[in-house]
Amino acid sequence: MKQNTLLLIKPNATKKHQIGEILQMIEENGFVIEKLKMFEMDNALADTFYVEHLGKGFYHELSEFMRSGKIVGAMLSREDAVLKLRELVGNTDCAKAALGTIRSIYGESIGENAVHASDSIESAKREIGLIFPE
Ligand code: RTP
Ligand code: MG
Repeated sequence: MKQNTLLLIKPNATKKHQIGEILQMIEENGFVIEKLKMFEMDNALADTFYVEHLGKGFYHELSEFMRSGKIVGAMLSREDAVLKLRELVGNTDCAKAALGTIRSIYGESIGENAVHASDSIESAKREIGLIFPE
């Protein structure tokens, strides 16, 4: 079934000029970029976007990192987009991410892991609404 999902290119990757390479990997793997924007997260958006992680031990570090620079948001479509993007992105911890996945190539640590990918159809709908409210 054709689906939409949300990709974020995180501040560590935008700082290192890796936006083009990551979007190329996305397009080469059958995703269509339906919407694209560059933005910065403030405290309120970080708290809303990552509401499931509010109060966890790593949350402060996560919020600070996501507010540390520019982010690229992309709404993507393809068959089974949510699962296929999670596969292409790889494990949260780049040291455990399978060879050839985006995080194995561009991730620097468990926190600075280059990209975000929605983890379910429901999350994708919620997150697309937050980043592309129009
Ligand atoms: P994401 O939401 O960014 O696509 O990543 P994910 O589903 O693979 O991982 P999740 O559990 O949702 O965690 C969200 C983000 O929080 C940071 N994190 N840091 N220091 C830590 O132990 C830790 N654990 C998670 C990562 O940036 C992760 O992507
Ligand atoms: Mg997640």
